[in-house]
Amino acid sequence: MRIDEVQRQRDAALAALDAVDDAAALEAWRTAALGRASAVAALLGQIKAVPADERPAFGAAVNAARQALEAAFEARRAALEARALGEALGSDRIDVTLPGTLPPRGGLHPVTRALRRICRIFADMGFQVYQSREVETDDLNFTLLNTPPHHPARDMQDTFYVTDDVVLRTHTSPGQIHAMREHAPEPLRIILPGVVYRNEKITARSEIQFTQIEGLAIGEGITMADLKGTVENFVRRLYGPDRAVRFRASYFPFTEPSAEVDVSCMLCGGRGCQICKGGGWLEIMGCGMVHPTVLANGGYDPDRFTGFAFGGGVERVALLRYGIDDIRHFWANDLRFLEQLR
Ligand code: PHE
Repeated sequence: MRIDEVQRQRDAALAALDAVDDAAALEAWRTAALGRASAVAALLGQIKAVPADERPAFGAAVNAARQALEAAFEARRAALEARALGEALGSDRIDVTLPGTLPPRGGLHPVTRALRRICRIFADMGFQVYQSREVETDDLNFTLLNTPPHHPARDMQDTFYVTDDVVLRTHTSPGQIHAMREHAPEPLRIILPGVVYRNEKITARSEIQFTQIEGLAIGEGITMADLKGTVENFVRRLYGPDRAVRFRASYFPFTEPSAEVDVSCMLCGGRGCQICKGGGWLEIMGCGMVHPTVLANGGYDPDRFTGFAFGGGVERVALLRYGIDDIRHFWANDLRFLEQLR
């Protein structure tokens, strides 16, 4: 009868344990089923009232019930812990076989890359880079380059004026004067890369802002042959050994004699195509022997020193290299365009 009661209490506690679903409820259950106020403790407290001959069996039954409850408690605790751990692992799980996320990577602008290629070629010929300012006086941009006010050649380059006598440089040539004045009477061999500005209508072929690279060599005994050799070597290294180079007489106020440099079209090999407009030649730069007046303005004695200079657009180099048909793409900052040219 008493043993029946022990088993009844045990089964009730075990049934209650089935409903326990978290650590707090489990702790509450332990207090209720195994604590000092529990049915098991109460039954143990009654042991003295049990007749002596039934006592061992009763005691054994209570102990067995307690051990059963303790074992059930441990099993439940382990199960709840395992479940919590599984949940944590499930939500945190890292699949190391998934491909990683690449961080966004920047790239150099195609004009920067073209400039660097050009600078490297000239570096091999002993030219150093000279950086010059983009805002110039009218004097440096024109007058000291043998283009005084009202000179008709000023019309060759439409100018942005900042004030009456300050301009955004229309070409990199004013840097020639800066460099000469800094270094005369030492010999010079420099290239001057940079952005220039012209007040022109923006079209597929002309921009108000573009990049030029200028070259200047000054020394004793420099001749037009040095200019031709330097330019030809540069063109063949940039565009390939099979390119033909042609010098066409031209005019610039700051060089005398002056020439335009043409290179045989790298797209059709000179047979004539859309890019070279059927002519087989592409115009790539202006050049000439530095005008004696300009040498003097730079601080060199024109009776002792001679020099050559050349200058051309850099966007055009990238344009031809990648077959781009619209110069406006370069400074529109459309990443879809820039990323294609990585
Ligand atoms: N400055 C000239 C231009 O912008 C190019 C040039 C540079 C020509 C040096 C001769 C010598 O068109």
